[in-house]
Amino acid sequence: MKENNKILPSLLSANFLNLTKDLDELKKIGIDQIHYDVMDGNFVPNISFGNGILNQLSKGDHFKYDVHLMVNDPEKHIENYINDSVKGVTWHHETLTYEEEHKLIKTVRQWNDDLDIGISIKPKTNIEQIYEFLPNIDIILIMSVEPGFGGQKFIEDSLKKIERLRKYIDERNLKTKIYVDGGINDVTASQCFKAGADYLVAGSYLFGSKDRKVAVEKLVKND
Ligand code: DX5
Ligand code: ZN
Repeated sequence: MKENNKILPSLLSANFLNLTKDLDELKKIGIDQIHYDVMDGNFVPNISFGNGILNQLSKGDHFKYDVHLMVNDPEKHIENYINDSVKGVTWHHETLTYEEEHKLIKTVRQWNDDLDIGISIKPKTNIEQIYEFLPNIDIILIMSVEPGFGGQKFIEDSLKKIERLRKYIDERNLKTKIYVDGGINDVTASQCFKAGADYLVAGSYLFGSKDRKVAVEKLVKND
């Protein structure tokens, strides 16, 4: 139960016709953060949900939200995704220049010092590209599928990225947490944790399981 908070269910795969039931069930098994995927139809081919739905959900007061912005121009949108229920906001490294990205980190810190700031990279982006940001951010979200859709197959090469990043973070005693998103199931989850991930996002595997308690236990098990 204690380790269950290492799993962040991705709302994208929840049953919107019975959302309260899905969320209540997750709360009972020790989940405290929900992963909220924002897709703009430009940075990724798909469109999901925006800040209106996030604000509605936040009124529920049950969870903290981990916002994943898969949008071009994150600096234009980010302010709309920060509220008291939001624990962290992550944008994509591929959408900004280095100068813009350093500036955005500073700006968001000034707005809200408690917020976790994250940078995500797509599967084809080298992990070394984001090393210079690590001392100033809280989360690196490694995409282990091409962003845009739930239910895709885990890209094996992601494990090497996680290992390299874990080593780099530990050697420098940095505080940045490694999140992995895409294709997480009972097999890939333990591979990711072994490679050094701190938290995993799980969508279709978790919500597609009849018994979510058992599914989360399988995701956090160590073998
Ligand atoms: C994909 C999203 C993911 C997605 C994960 O672009 O960022 O969060 O919902 O879904 P699964 O776990 O089904 O790959
Ligand atoms: Zn995501």
